[in-house]
Amino acid sequence: MTGLTTRQTLESVVPAALSPRPERWPLRQVLAQQAAHAGLPLHLPAHRRGLGRAFHWPRLPWSWDLPELPAVGGPLLTEGAVAESQSLVAAALGVDFSWYGVNGASGLLQAALLAVAGPGSRVLLPRHHHRSLLHGAVLAGFNPLLYSVPFDGCTGLWQPLPPKHLDRFLQQAAPVDLLVLLSPTYQGLASDLPSLVAIAHRHGVPVLVDEAHGGHFGFDASLPQAAIAAGADLVVQSLHKSLGALAQAAVLHAQGPRLDVQRLAQALEWLQTSSPSALLMLSAEQSLAQRLTARGHSQLKRLLRQAVELHQHLKQEGIPVLAVDDPLRLVLHTAPMGCSGVDADEWLLERNVIAECPELFSLTFCLGLGGSRGLARPLLRELRRLSRERGGEPLAPLVPPPLPAVAQLDIAPGQAWRSASREVPIAKAEDCIAARPICPYPPGIPLLLPGERLDAARLEWLQQQRLLWRGQIADTVTVLA
Ligand SMILES: Cc1ncc(COP(=O)(O)O)c(C=O)c1O
Repeated sequence: MTGLTTRQTLESVVPAALSPRPERWPLRQVLAQQAAHAGLPLHLPAHRRGLGRAFHWPRLPWSWDLPELPAVGGPLLTEGAVAESQSLVAAALGVDFSWYGVNGASGLLQAALLAVAGPGSRVLLPRHHHRSLLHGAVLAGFNPLLYSVPFDGCTGLWQPLPPKHLDRFLQQAAPVDLLVLLSPTYQGLASDLPSLVAIAHRHGVPVLVDEAHGGHFGFDASLPQAAIAAGADLVVQSLHKSLGALAQAAVLHAQGPRLDVQRLAQALEWLQTSSPSALLMLSAEQSLAQRLTARGHSQLKRLLRQAVELHQHLKQEGIPVLAVDDPLRLVLHTAPMGCSGVDADEWLLERNVIAECPELFSLTFCLGLGGSRGLARPLLRELRRLSRERGGEPLAPLVPPPLPAVAQLDIAPGQAWRSASREVPIAKAEDCIAARPICPYPPGIPLLLPGERLDAARLEWLQQQRLLWRGQIADTVTVLA
């Protein structure tokens, strides 16, 4: 099953009246009509289409902020513009269902977990998972099996999962109820999803892909294949991270015979607000419309071209930019410049250059859909100054975390988190079981999980991390009492 990449194929599944202009997509049309004919609005939100707005901001469309009126509907209703819009997206992408979410990729990842897993379920989670998945394990009450992916000490970045590793992990961890894959990473590193999904399916295991950072993937040949096209059963995309939606807008796609749609809808209802924002859903729709329609296509192509040119230009000028699979992420390799990504970020922030993700050996900038023409000169100037003022000897490679290839926590994270706990100095925590995570943010990847037993090697590594993350990690750890 492949996603649509051309205007022709989109038009073959989308009613002619709707394609291909985003302003003719269902939710946008209905909200515009409602805003033009307010009638007597005696409903929530309490600002009543802006009449009682708490503050004046002329560009905020209060009158479009509508509840689940019959014409509008909501993600879990079968009638109304939202349902129509979601069906349109599902048809255009070739999946069975798409649901908009208003609590980010976090909320949809958790709903996907809850739909498939409960206490006693065997879920394989990547070590470098986003913390929302840990929280999902807490909510669902299962004890995850954690698998490691290669860690590159020179860049400090987790690497794509090699397919041959996955085969081994699945044998080692069998029986497995669900495999969670992360691709692409925050920095735009993509895994070979077609091979990984095929291996999981050969083992009879359904796959959830956290594609928060890859909503634009697969749209043309210069980008890696999208998780949907790779055959993943469940795919979550953060539409504000990788397409042009408002913060919190996200989408969950489901396809194939391995899933129970009733359970998915039930889990979404458990976690979803009873008042999903029409504005957020509108922004979800329009961001996907941009991704799927011809006009959006040429915009995206132009942005990708500009981004590639920016990468090339900076590299030619001697700036250490890492090679990644997503041109819309620009990853500065700070280690060879002699400073950490955290220090570089602090220095740049003072000059109003606001990066997205500072880490130990790198600093990730999101070019996103804002265009990168005109960035080369000011960025180059600041990065050269950064190198002069903060640079030094290249940093020695980082020690990879001492983690087994696949391991289950000593006790389930939810149970550990809810147990009586105490704080002990890191140096004195050997053989204790963690009751809270340690999780610098961003990137929001836990370095320690509740339920994990601490051995000497792990403690030594955590001590090193504490020094490197400067102020983000306490010198104590919360463990079971
Ligand atoms: C890999 C990954 N997945 C999921 C999320 C959660 O996305 P959201 O902020 O849309 O909830 C993030 C956020 O940083 C992330 O990096």
